[in-house]
Amino acid sequence: MREVKVGLCGLGTVGSGVFNVVSRNLEAINTRSNCQISIAQVGCRRDNKDCDMSAVNITRDIFDVAKNPDIDIVVELIGGTTVALELVMLSLENGKHVVTANKALIAEHGMAIFAYAESRGLMVCYEAAVAGGIPIIKALREGLSANRINWLAGIINGTTNFILSEMDTKGREFADVLSEAQAKGYAEADPTFDVEGIDASHKLAILASIAFSMPLSLDGLFTDGITQLEPQDVAYARELGYVIKHLGIARRSASGIELRVHPTLVPERSLIAGVSDVSNAIMVNADAVGTTLFYGPGAGAEPTASAVIADIVDIARVLDSYPDSWVPPLGCHSSVLQECTLMAIEDVETSFYIRFSALDKPGVLSDITKIMGDTGISIEAIIQREQPAGERYVNVIILTNVTKEKCLNEAVAQIEQLETVRGQVSFIRVEYLDQL
Ligand code: HSE
Repeated sequence: MREVKVGLCGLGTVGSGVFNVVSRNLEAINTRSNCQISIAQVGCRRDNKDCDMSAVNITRDIFDVAKNPDIDIVVELIGGTTVALELVMLSLENGKHVVTANKALIAEHGMAIFAYAESRGLMVCYEAAVAGGIPIIKALREGLSANRINWLAGIINGTTNFILSEMDTKGREFADVLSEAQAKGYAEADPTFDVEGIDASHKLAILASIAFSMPLSLDGLFTDGITQLEPQDVAYARELGYVIKHLGIARRSASGIELRVHPTLVPERSLIAGVSDVSNAIMVNADAVGTTLFYGPGAGAEPTASAVIADIVDIARVLDSYPDSWVPPLGCHSSVLQECTLMAIEDVETSFYIRFSALDKPGVLSDITKIMGDTGISIEAIIQREQPAGERYVNVIILTNVTKEKCLNEAVAQIEQLETVRGQVSFIRVEYLDQL
């Protein structure tokens, strides 16, 4: 059997997962790849107590791995976009194929990395960069290659889903759940990437690029996280029959492509509403197949290792074949990728959940419904919540029908001007996702 030597760079949560799963399942991995795969060198700043490194060649300089003439595949699991980019480029320069789980690196520098790899006749694989253990890159690039993809929408950050699930079902505090997500190895090194939606925007850019055959770019991608979300909105959403999920949405329409990441109300009877804990789920709607749902663990050591090792196996299987027969990184040849017009968020049409605090006196609601009518917004449901005795203001919650976001912004500005309304109006977008 052909020998395939892997150099593992990074021995944190994912690196240790890769090391342990390879050690545990080596026989099956070799059978499936029809190669003899080994981790020939590990580059890491320090040992990991979860891994038995007694028989391993270790270097404290990851660039040694990129330059090691024995290595066929370099696995980049150090994260970040500076040293990681240098490592990947140096590995390619030295004739190594590359596997990475680094979504920021692929979203920001993917085009340059793929171009360089192509010029060198090498592969760069990144299944683990999106949705942890779910093989969504393979599904989009290969399984759905017969289809024109209309839209995809998904829970693509495990940490935020974990936080929202715990807030919803156990009423836990945001900060407390985030600490637990960090301890479990779900969160990014800088957890603001998770809770501000940046990690999800990197993943959405990658999914959209494959789905719509467009170059990777973060420009024009609307990003909002969950830090402004109030526990009362999670509770009100439940009362109305919805669950708040942090979604990445990519949709193709006659007006262009929508790319947006934000908290979203979804009907509680939809399948995606039931996706809890660190799980991810991606719905893909395409013309031939209809709507499909891909579900599984979105973060964590071994689920992510599962995707990394699948990439190693994929490379090992075709290592000696002609590069033209390989699946291109974005599903089609780079020369046919086309820039697309991205829609501004103000032009996107959705339904909205709105909450504000209004004086409890006659005529207030009619002023508000008049504003909604004047700005062309149709109301789907409205509820007014009783406040404790002595409180003169009440919470008003409105669900709208589908409207352009610029109309909603106009209505919000006018409502905030009313003397009977206190403070700001908060709103959250609502999606029905084909009711799947
Ligand atoms: N921090 C990421 C998440 C890890 O929580 O989803 C997996 O990409």
